Amino acid sequence: MRRRLKMLRWLLPLLACVRIAALPQDEGTAYDGDPYHGAAGNEMSCTWTCVVFTMQWPAAFCQSLDNASLCTIPEHVDTWTIHGLWPMKVQQCCRCWPMFFSDVQELQDALEECWPSLLKSRSSFHFWRDEWEKHGTCAACVEGLNSPLRYFQTCLKLRGRFDLRKALEDAGIKPSCDRPYKLSEVQDVLAPLLGHACEIQCIKDDKGREVWFQVKIRLSRNLTVGCEHAADVTPISQGHPCPAQGTFYLLPIDWRRPSRPCD
Ligand SMILES: *[C@@H]1O[C@H](CO)[C@@H](O)[C@H](O)[C@H]1NC(C)=O
Ligand SMILES: *[C@@H]1O[C@H](CO)[C@@H](O)[C@H](O)[C@H]1NC(C)=O
Repeated sequence: MRRRLKMLRWLLPLLACVRIAALPQDEGTAYDGDPYHGAAGNEMSCTWTCVVFTMQWPAAFCQSLDNASLCTIPEHVDTWTIHGLWPMKVQQCCRCWPMFFSDVQELQDALEECWPSLLKSRSSFHFWRDEWEKHGTCAACVEGLNSPLRYFQTCLKLRGRFDLRKALEDAGIKPSCDRPYKLSEVQDVLAPLLGHACEIQCIKDDKGREVWFQVKIRLSRNLTVGCEHAADVTPISQGHPCPAQGTFYLLPIDWRRPSRPCD
């Protein structure tokens, strides 16, 4: 039985990725005239040009849940964590390349630190596997992303490259229950790191305040900042652009009280 499972593990991705029709996507699916589509016929040709790397602020993630008691922040987590790396407007992709724990075992410590599940009901491995199956498999036409291990390694590298915490702290932008920030000041701080190819996203907390939730960074397929198809980027998670007028909060992260850090 074990051996058969093992065989399946190698066979499935091969079989499944032999050009199957595009599966329904929950994000931009319409074919947009992407020139790379011309190379179709080779099932591994890329149909996307832009990819979005999203980092989330754990305290705000908890505010985004309908039921805050479902939120958990691991004790060691005290800064931005990875939400995902998402190719945009994927025209064709096979979501049937399964991922196993052994695929990413060697990255476990780093992933637990940088990419934890913040939901009590979902283990971190389940979070990673969901992200791989939903987005990573669609990204796998690029060499640096063409296996679960490479995909997660690349994401960890991106997290290192985009050190939001350092950039913000150096500029005096720190978590606070009392001190709100303006979008323009945050953008000025992040521009040297991210260019203008990023979206600063907020959600409303249970007191109706705007709180900083995510940073979405648009990258080209070669993972350089920016992407000419920027306008194609469609929102695929909760959150809205932080208000250009007014202010928003960067809530403290408190693993003891993940959803009530300011009480
Ligand atoms: C929130 O989740 C907890 C734990 O699952 C549950 O006991 C509680 O009833 C839920 N509350 C609401 C308002 O749904
Ligand atoms: C990465 O891709 C973009 C868009 O295709 C291109 O303009 C840029 O020169 C590339 N950068 C590198 C280092 O290859």
